[in-house]
Amino acid sequence: MLAEREIESCYLGQFIPLHYHHNMLMDSRRMQGFRAAIEHAVFPGAKVLELGGGTGVLSWFAAARAEKVWCVEFNPDLVNEARRLLSRNREGHKVEVVHADAFDYLPPEPVDVVICEMIHVGMLREKQVEMIESFKHRYHARFGGRLPVFVPEAAILAVQPLGQEYCFEGYHAPIVQFQEPTGIASGSIEFAAPSVYGILDFSQTCDSGIQWQGSFTMEQDGTVNALRFITKNILAVLMAQGTTIDWLNHYMVLPLPAPLQVMAGDTLRVSFQYRAGGSIPSLQNSLDAEVLPRASMSTHADVELMHA
Ligand SMILES: C[S@@+](CC[C@H](N)C(=O)[O-])C[C@H]1O[C@@H](n2cnc3c(N)ncnc32)[C@H](O)[C@@H]1O
Repeated sequence: MLAEREIESCYLGQFIPLHYHHNMLMDSRRMQGFRAAIEHAVFPGAKVLELGGGTGVLSWFAAARAEKVWCVEFNPDLVNEARRLLSRNREGHKVEVVHADAFDYLPPEPVDVVICEMIHVGMLREKQVEMIESFKHRYHARFGGRLPVFVPEAAILAVQPLGQEYCFEGYHAPIVQFQEPTGIASGSIEFAAPSVYGILDFSQTCDSGIQWQGSFTMEQDGTVNALRFITKNILAVLMAQGTTIDWLNHYMVLPLPAPLQVMAGDTLRVSFQYRAGGSIPSLQNSLDAEVLPRASMSTHADVELMHA
């Protein structure tokens, strides 16, 4: 009989299959971003903890400078894989792979840097927010003092209305789609620029409850039938250079409950709510959108002016 958290873990993608981890190793945008951010955050002699170490690659990046790295992983297949791969890499011996639930584990001594990549677009499915909040409470209770630096340091969440093609060789299927964030997505028409609906600063308390109500002014006529969710992870803030090292998740495009005809100048009102770590359908089921035609907006404005 699986414990409740294990059941949830299986369904919500905490146990990502091994081949998916190999794809993550081959994702050069992700790898280069994390490598640069970890090189920036980890100073020579630092103590580092990684929560959810997978193949061990991010811990290994840290080991280039760190004195010691604890790499906590829950999935036994990945514990073995991380140990196997680390033993084949120089400095791999500095990484201690710990088979434990990162929701319970604390390192034996204070650490300077904590790496945690349990990130899915919108902070859905994986437990990044819950994990970091749990860690901060337990760490503070055990060691007090300053919190370590987190990699990533923060995340910016945005949403954008789209007209999305849902015809697959003649078969109409409004499905969830993921898009490469680099380059122009074919089959997507953008009706307005993205709007930021959340900023998570992991050095501060982050609420798992995410909700948004906002509006977009339509830039052209057409049919809006989807929302694109964008997640930019701020892996490191380079204060001296006045810049950041970022990693964009794949964009996620969710179909709206019904397509909406819009004209340029109309207002599209959108609302949704979900919990960080929740499922994609939980967000999908909360999506609501309505069009306020330009004329009705000016009537509202006129009424407000009359009352002013
Ligand atoms: C997205 S993967 C990232 C793996 C690795 N850090 C990397 O960047 O390649 C997230 C990892 O966290 C692990 N994980 C999820 N929940 C965990 C938990 N409660 N305790 C320890 N590891 C966990 C998963 O098994 C998975 O290996």
